[in-house]
Amino acid sequence: MPEGPSSYVFVICQAGAEAAARKEVLALDGFKLAFSLPGFLTFKVQPGAIPEKFSLPLTLARTYGWCLGKVVGENANELVEQICQQPIVSDCQQFHVFERETSLPGSQGFEPGISVLAREIANLFAARTELAKRKVAVNRVAKVDQKVLDVVIVKPNEWWYGYHWTGTRQSRWPGGVPIIDTSQERASRAYFKLKEALLWSGIKIQPGDVCAEIGSAPGGACELLLEMGAKVIAIDPAELEPEIEKHENLTYLRRRGHEVKKKDFKDVRWLMADLSIAPQYTLDTVRDIVQHERVDIRGIILTLKLSNWEVLDAIPDYMKQVKAMGFQVVKTRQLAFNRQEFCLTAIKDKFALRAGSRKR
Ligand SMILES: C[S@@+](CC[C@H](N)C(=O)[O-])C[C@H]1O[C@@H](n2cnc3c(N)ncnc32)[C@H](O)[C@@H]1O
Repeated sequence: MPEGPSSYVFVICQAGAEAAARKEVLALDGFKLAFSLPGFLTFKVQPGAIPEKFSLPLTLARTYGWCLGKVVGENANELVEQICQQPIVSDCQQFHVFERETSLPGSQGFEPGISVLAREIANLFAARTELAKRKVAVNRVAKVDQKVLDVVIVKPNEWWYGYHWTGTRQSRWPGGVPIIDTSQERASRAYFKLKEALLWSGIKIQPGDVCAEIGSAPGGACELLLEMGAKVIAIDPAELEPEIEKHENLTYLRRRGHEVKKKDFKDVRWLMADLSIAPQYTLDTVRDIVQHERVDIRGIILTLKLSNWEVLDAIPDYMKQVKAMGFQVVKTRQLAFNRQEFCLTAIKDKFALRAGSRKR
């Protein structure tokens, strides 16, 4: 196996998730912890443990790559200069410049994405003539199989840099966060959460598709689905936002998931669950529905609560349970817009991702 160019790898995760992310990485062969701050970890990697173009099976990692070092200085222009002098820069077709996260999404006015500081620094890179001449894009969605320089603003005066090769959808987004406009107020943050889940999983909901969501109040996810032209069945004992509730394409079943008759799911193509209760309860509720003979659900998108970090140990078992429900492709990720929770998506037929969801 060709060896990587560095003995270090960086991993970005949600602020506060670093101990659990570290545990996930250390469970892989050949990794030793080198450095840790909230939202930012580095690991020493045994020679040959991973190839140059690597991907890691981690739920909590937002993004990762080879770690080449750090630059320290008092002013941004000086740090930009130091980065631009690194030999790696001439090999990279893209720059991703982003800040380490220090707050939970939705707290202290923080929403994931490129911060004001990161945007200003990205503009300094974009203004460099040697990069402009080579048409190096800064903080855009990269193409597949591109070499991307990562500049992680760990502190305003301490930037770490490295690179990764793009492969998965999330590896193409700056800092592993999809570019989502959060400026407009929505019925709830679940609007952004579902948007990211769809972008990450590749699930394409078509106008007219019937979607059901268990745990739908106050209605952010329903708002997105309705905007996409879906027909929505909202299931929740709590109140929906009036604007969402009165939408002509929404049916509101004001009760708990297990109290809904299975025949009410007969036309449902996509099932979502976003319950603030133990993951096993969510899985049991979903299993009861998808395994019913009158139900033919193509895919599920579940938000599973991390009431404590030990829940992560059960992920392999959760995935096994979902596969046993008849789903072929099952994935987990702590989304940038997730709080103390993670997302599990599953589809019955992997070709559905390519073909969209028109054919049943
Ligand atoms: C995180 S909130 C859901 C947010 C929602 N997805 C949105 O888009 O705004 C969790 C919801 O789960 C609901 N819930 C809890 N247990 C439930 C159950 N067994 N069946 C249906 N809803 C339930 C709660 O009433 C609460 O409104």
